[in-house]
Amino acid sequence: MTQAVQTLRWVDGALEMIDQRILPARFEYITYASALEVAEGIRSMVVRGAPAIGCAAEYGVALEALRLRPAAPAAFVAGMEHAFEVLAASRPTAVNLFWALERMRSVWHANLQYPQSEIAATLLAQAHEISAEDVRINRAMGAHGATLLADGARVLTHCNAGALATAGHGTALGVFRSAVEAGKRISVIADETRPFLQGARLTAWEMVQEGIPVTLITDNMAGHLMRCGEIDAVIVGTDRVAANGDVANKIGTYMVAVLAQRHGIPFYVACPLSTIDLSIPDGNAIPIEERAAEEVTGFRDCQWAAKGVKVRNPAFDVTPAELVTALITEKGVVRQPNRENIARLFLV
Ligand code: MRU
Repeated sequence: MTQAVQTLRWVDGALEMIDQRILPARFEYITYASALEVAEGIRSMVVRGAPAIGCAAEYGVALEALRLRPAAPAAFVAGMEHAFEVLAASRPTAVNLFWALERMRSVWHANLQYPQSEIAATLLAQAHEISAEDVRINRAMGAHGATLLADGARVLTHCNAGALATAGHGTALGVFRSAVEAGKRISVIADETRPFLQGARLTAWEMVQEGIPVTLITDNMAGHLMRCGEIDAVIVGTDRVAANGDVANKIGTYMVAVLAQRHGIPFYVACPLSTIDLSIPDGNAIPIEERAAEEVTGFRDCQWAAKGVKVRNPAFDVTPAELVTALITEKGVVRQPNRENIARLFLV
């Protein structure tokens, strides 16, 4: 069992996160010492991917408590409240962020009577535990998902739902890893995933690192490959699943799901329970982040679009539940997700 990529790590009392903006050209960690810094790391996408954002936010809360240990009690409480607010405002779509912050808040509130140094230590232990739990969950999802893939399967994925998007192993890429560990020959087709290029830069890099066969395509090639019979299944991750099974994921996912249905190709979503938001009735209520125009008009220092052009940059889209063949969760595979079978997942 290898841990190829350590997206977040705790070193000498600080959080280190791989700078995913510069991969694969450079592999560098950035060090974070406060909640505000972590919130900026999430906003600017040093760290991205729903579960990884949640883990980063937990460490952000723990860092803030550690930083504020010597403060007067009122200043400690005010500083912690501010940390929760700033972290919650960093990105809107991935529900794991809010799920993680809620867990940290309840641990904080349950320990209010203890000295601040003890509260900080307990919050840090909780952050470590949630990250370790994330890897366990991904491995469970991987084992369930691997049963859906035949030996030799050629599987398309969109964006990066890999180790880089989680505390380790990955969700969609975790299924590929688990299938390969189980002895299956799997080949991955990675959509490049405009505009941030998570597929070309991150998924391709992760798969190449591990020797899992991967072929990169631009986003507009998926339909052609499906029509030519070169894709057997699609597996993607998700940022938020509504109570009725509608799936928010990286912009372009909906297009892939429509194409998959047209060609009779199964469309699977790797989805930890922490990504299901029962408070949201359907996909229309999922907040969709709009990002900067510069991500669409060019990349880094190279601008290619006409100056002054109007731009839209929604970072996510919603795939209706009817297009989802199954959700792959840590509790098993949920075929034809709907309100009833999703609610059942949460019964003890
Ligand atoms: O904008 P990003 O890179 O944070 O978007 C990531 C995705 O859309 C992933 O598919 C999703 O978070 C699942 S990651 C296991």
